[in-house]
Amino acid sequence: MRTLTVDLGARSYPIYIGGDLLSDRGLWARHLAAKQVMVVTNDTVAPLYLDSVLANLSDKQVETVILPDGEQYKTLDSAAWIWDRLIHARFSRNACLIALGGGVIGDLGGFAAACYQRGIPFVQAPTTLLAQVDSSVGGKTGVNHALGKNMIGAFYQPLAVIADTSSLTTLPDRELSAGLAEVIKYGLIRDAAFFGWIEANIDALLRRDPTAVGWAIERSCRNKAEVVTADEHESGVRATLNLGHTFGHAIETGAGYGVYLHGEAVAIGTCIAADLSVRLGRLDPVSAARIRELLQRARLPIRLNWELSPLRMLELMAVDKKNVDGRLRLILLQAIGEATLPLEIDGETVRATLEHCLAAA
Ligand code: NAD
Ligand code: GLY
Repeated sequence: MRTLTVDLGARSYPIYIGGDLLSDRGLWARHLAAKQVMVVTNDTVAPLYLDSVLANLSDKQVETVILPDGEQYKTLDSAAWIWDRLIHARFSRNACLIALGGGVIGDLGGFAAACYQRGIPFVQAPTTLLAQVDSSVGGKTGVNHALGKNMIGAFYQPLAVIADTSSLTTLPDRELSAGLAEVIKYGLIRDAAFFGWIEANIDALLRRDPTAVGWAIERSCRNKAEVVTADEHESGVRATLNLGHTFGHAIETGAGYGVYLHGEAVAIGTCIAADLSVRLGRLDPVSAARIRELLQRARLPIRLNWELSPLRMLELMAVDKKNVDGRLRLILLQAIGEATLPLEIDGETVRATLEHCLAAA
């Protein structure tokens, strides 16, 4: 097991990465002082891993909430269901919530924990690659709104992240690839050496070679932990973690939640961001081609295969949390390993990029 720390003073917490951690009773006991524990999961993950987690909780008052699977259930209604159950069970403010699942359950469970009685402790137990490398770390919690992804939420850090890499053996191939989109992101925004390592090891990652996957998770989490430590509430550098996400979120909302996986939409968005960076004279075209090639090798889409006009994309992008005073802000690449968030971007170039990238569909 490897342990990293997200260093946030009194709210610092460990990220544990390793095999069979969901059934490591000693590890759970370290973080579960609470007598009342709620496990939130979904109907895909529950039959696979719920019993392993419950076996660690035999001395607790335990409630389980099993939600339907899917991005379309990352809603305020699902959060309200969790709150109903917490209140009915008379759970107190020192109760603990465990979010067991992918990023949907992690974001939703974390948000429910952040709001219940103004905040109860929670543990992230991520079971997808995407959640293990990204969403479980850093305290962004929330739900979707019909008009925009993740528009309702809170910054709320977990007590610990328990990333059991054995759980990835049951993950569908398409979901593994979606997680790789966020792994590649860290290489692109701040870690050129890691990008090179991913290029050299993409086949091992797709084969789920445990050493390669474990290393990719650790390096990704290290990158994320450093960024979050530097800028917890995203007043600066943390925004670079959203490379390709403004386009990606617009694609997810525009196509309908669940049509494109989050990581797939991010992959397409990353290609659009790279194209825009080239047009603005920041990134060289050879690097942009290298990015597209790696995403393709990771079995990710690099073009949108859905009817979405540039105008509609721009409308959807107007609902983005990075926007300031109603103005669009986008992450650009200077090079592989270096991202920036310029104050102004020429609107005509953004439109031309969208015309090009969406027409290529
Ligand atoms: P997800 O939670 O929908 O999980 C993907 C699928 O895999 C689901 O069908 C799930 O039930 C299934 N699954 C989960 N673990 C499994 C396992 N071990 N074996 C078999 N199936 C398993 O999607 P995701 O890609 O994990 O997360 C995407 C979500 O994360 C999006 O809502 C996105 O907005 C959010 N996100 C949040 C952050 C953040 O910082 N909070 C960062 C990135 C993404
Ligand atoms: N995934 C973006 C962030 O955590 O900031």
